[in-house]
Amino acid sequence: MSNITRDMSGDDFKKYGYELVDWIANYLSDLDNIPVLPDIVPGDIEKKLPTKPPFSNETMQNILADIDKIVMPGMTHWNHPYFNAYFNSTASSAGILAEFLSAAFNVNGMVWKSAPASNEIEKVTVDWMRQMLGLPDSFWGIIYDTASVSSMHAIASAREDLKGMNIRELGMSGRTDLPLLRVYSSEQAHSSIDKGAIILGLGLKSLVKIPVNEKFEMLPDKFEEAILQDKEEGYLPMCAVATIGTTSTTSVDPVKQIAEICKRHYVWLHVDAAHAGPIAMLDDYSSYFDGWEEADSIVMNPHKWMFVPIDLSLLFTKHKGTLKSAFSLVHEYLKTTEDDKVDNLMDYGIQLGRRFRSLKLWFVIRYFGVEGIKNILREHLRMGKNFSDWIESHPVFEKLAPTPFSTICFRAKPPKLNEDELNDFNQQLIERINAKRKLFITHSKLNGKFTIRYVVSGIRTHDEHVEKAKQIIEDELHDIMKDWGLND
Ligand SMILES: Cc1ncc(COP(=O)(O)O)c(C=O)c1O
Repeated sequence: MSNITRDMSGDDFKKYGYELVDWIANYLSDLDNIPVLPDIVPGDIEKKLPTKPPFSNETMQNILADIDKIVMPGMTHWNHPYFNAYFNSTASSAGILAEFLSAAFNVNGMVWKSAPASNEIEKVTVDWMRQMLGLPDSFWGIIYDTASVSSMHAIASAREDLKGMNIRELGMSGRTDLPLLRVYSSEQAHSSIDKGAIILGLGLKSLVKIPVNEKFEMLPDKFEEAILQDKEEGYLPMCAVATIGTTSTTSVDPVKQIAEICKRHYVWLHVDAAHAGPIAMLDDYSSYFDGWEEADSIVMNPHKWMFVPIDLSLLFTKHKGTLKSAFSLVHEYLKTTEDDKVDNLMDYGIQLGRRFRSLKLWFVIRYFGVEGIKNILREHLRMGKNFSDWIESHPVFEKLAPTPFSTICFRAKPPKLNEDELNDFNQQLIERINAKRKLFITHSKLNGKFTIRYVVSGIRTHDEHVEKAKQIIEDELHDIMKDWGLND
């Protein structure tokens, strides 16, 4: 029978808190020595958990012991130096400490009054980020959880911005006075744009995927052609999404040209720089961001390539009022005496409640300093170049896309294999590499070709890890070629 009637004592919190901090510190410093991927099959972790919740209380010793017994065997370690999959998201130590503190404060920043420090630190750090990215002060920013949610809010703003449609009030369904609204992105844009169109009631039918060139960049002429054709057919071009750093290859759409077309046709321009955004801090990479200052809104994720623990995404917009008019709905119980002096952040999005996310952004920017963050980004770009050079000079590998940043798209191309066989071969190659659990890399498909991606953006990945990754890939290539009888 449980005799618990109140929370843990302060002394116990210290005891288990210190234990947990020790555990985390050891975990982070030992990552190099443990496999990046777990050795499990679906259901293995679930099997270790009781199907019924504990009726009586359990000790913290037991709970903490299960981190090693139950959680660790089921971990894909995103913080690992050999995690070179997807777009990485690594947590710096300063960011981890801020998350701990944020849970302790447990504020809900729906209005300024409910969390003044959270509100004002968000206001200031987001503006720091704007300055770091070199964006003009016509941009105002807000923190959401993910880029998917940021982009959804951007598209919602574009919809709100339509003159005379009053969609907020009248909705879209059953209306005969609404033309088909159009959203444009390249074929390479992230699926979050499609999801935004779904959730906003535009439907996938409203989304026009513009073709790309051989470098996977949107073709601006095709974009303008699509707008003109849509206008002719009575559709209403509403929003375009240009990507700086697409998910498969990190290709960069010609934002400046796209911005000019958007201006000509009164189309809202949203720039998705979820992954590559932080690189705007580096002067020598500024050409990739040419024209993004012309956008109506921009998303970038400090949780992807700025060492802030997941989740933290930034939406910058030049139309704060439009975002507010799309979402603000203030019931009596949420009114405060400061309403005319502050931004109550619940007014700028779908969520009422919001966590103290800015704390981790504040910690991370201050711990590294702007120069420190830039140094790490430069290191990643240098290591990415090193890996890319290795692929280019390799007798069997070939690059399948340019490498503007540090994501390398490649495949093995042994002689004598046709395209279908090459796809099988590369799929098996990556599966065999990941099965060894020392290195984690993932894939995409480009022009029908199975494409291996190697991404350098984790804070714990250094030269020795890139060299070892090359060795792991080389060894596996050798073995699979032998198994396929391709060595001679
Ligand atoms: C270009 C781009 N945009 C958006 C997203 C979605 O990011 P999130 O997981 O923060 O929603 C991704 C994810 O990798 C991405 O690569």
